[in-house]
Order: sequence, then structure tokens, then C-alpha cells
Amino acid sequence: MASDAKDEAILRRKSNKVPSIDRGILRLIDDMLDTLYEQNGVGLAAPQIGVSLRVIVIHLPEEEHPKILINPQIVKAEGEMNGDEACLSVPGYVGQINRFNDITVKALNEKGQLKRYKANGGLLARALQHELDHLDGILYYDRLPEGEYLQEARRVEDDHVDDHDPEREPIENA
Ligand code: NI
Repeated sequence: MASDAKDEAILRRKSNKVPSIDRGILRLIDDMLDTLYEQNGVGLAAPQIGVSLRVIVIHLPEEEHPKILINPQIVKAEGEMNGDEACLSVPGYVGQINRFNDITVKALNEKGQLKRYKANGGLLARALQHELDHLDGILYYDRLPEGEYLQEARRVEDDHVDDHDPEREPIENA
């Protein structure tokens, strides 16, 4: 993903609002979900597949269905948390990023219904903020504390870690 200069530029641009949920948008959502599952990610924003529109998809490991957020807006952001974060557009790295702990986002779903998503810490709170940043051209390492750097992510195969171990805290990879 984001393999050429045009795609890189889209990652740094503020995305446009979706004017109406038509067949093109539904196709975009399908493409985003395909990419998300291919890459084993938790969340994906449209600019990550080269489309400058305000659409994000999030599929938490423990949930059956993905969340589709069109034209999302933060309505509440409070508290603070710190934890590992990674991005499908910045493969092979991980960083410790401060985020709001309590986050509420409103967005349209793929049927045009207005939905609210409330998260108190954890993967959903982190994924929502990470993906919303993508829509504003912000990459997670922009938010590294001063003097901190990304770390090279250790490959799961090298660690002999059971990826399905429920005790293992998943890293937000979005
Ligand atoms: Ni990302």
C-alpha cells in the first residue's frame, strides 16, 4: 500500500467528506475490508488505499462484524492512555503513542444511519483516533513524544508467539 508518490501524497492530505453513500462508496468499503483482512489489521482508512474520502473501517478481533464509519466526528475526547501502536502504511514499526482514553465518535454507517461509538481505553479507543488521524493526513509517528522514535517491530514468526493467545494484548495495527 501507498507504494507510489501519489499515494504517499494522499496519506498526507485532508480527506473529503462523502457527499452521498452511493454504489461507489459501497464498493470502496468492500475494497477496504478486503485490504484490512489481507493485512490482518484492526482498522483502515480510505486514504491508505489511495482514496481521499472520509471513510474508515474497524474490525476488532473479538467482534463478529466490522464497524463502518462514514464522515466520522469526535464528540468527546478525555483522559489519557499510552500504549503500542502500529500502522499498515508504515510496515515493520511500532511506537508508544499517547491517546485520549475516553472517546466518543459519531458517524454514518453504510446504510446512512447515524451511529455513536463510545470507547473507554483499549483497542477501539486507539483505533478510532488512529483512523480519524488518517483522514486529516496525520500519521501516528507525528504524535510520538519529543525525543521518542519508532521501534522495529519484532516479527511474530521470530518470536514463536501464539497469535491467538487471548492473554496476548493485540497491537493496534491500522
Ligand atoms: Ni494507520
